[in-house]
Amino acid sequence: MKKFEQKTFAIPELKGISAKTNEEHLKLYAGYVNNANLILEKIEELGKDNTANAYVLGELQRRFGFEFDGMRNHEYYFKSFEGGPKPLIVGSALRSAIEAEWGSFDLWLARFKAVALTRGIGWAILYWDNHTGRLLNSWVDEQHLGHLTGLTPVLALDMWEHSFVADYAPSGKKNYVEDFFANLNWEVIENNFTAAKR
Ligand SMILES: [Fe+2]
Repeated sequence: MKKFEQKTFAIPELKGISAKTNEEHLKLYAGYVNNANLILEKIEELGKDNTANAYVLGELQRRFGFEFDGMRNHEYYFKSFEGGPKPLIVGSALRSAIEAEWGSFDLWLARFKAVALTRGIGWAILYWDNHTGRLLNSWVDEQHLGHLTGLTPVLALDMWEHSFVADYAPSGKKNYVEDFFANLNWEVIENNFTAAKR
């Protein structure tokens, strides 16, 4: 049976977000990978009797979205720090697409930060929609509730408290969001955009 593999990330020293937070956070990511694999194994095993195991299978299938998206969201998140902070180049395809959608980069950034400060745990995600050729912001509750069908994430910001509470006070959410952007390598995000458009 195929297995999802745990990826590794070359995360440099970050502004505000400590190495200890990343170390602990990567353990949580590993948990999502392991659980996504485990759920598929269990479904395979219990699926030998779909009728007798219907209730358990239904719940496992429901939780698969949580574990799988938890794995994939974190891969976008950690990768966006690799290579250290780099700006979004003026005139780049992504910057132009943001400007076409929101009028200016700053207007998009203000809107995205507002999405990130949504109350509760979840993710702020910038998506590319190949169906309509536009970018969309969205809030995802937990790991999986609110993803937009058929769209590809370009930028994913983890807004679970485990991402920031050890380094910032619980009320320091806003500073964490600011530091996330200070640490962001926009070249990675531009590459995500290029891949999403294929
Ligand atoms: Fe997380």
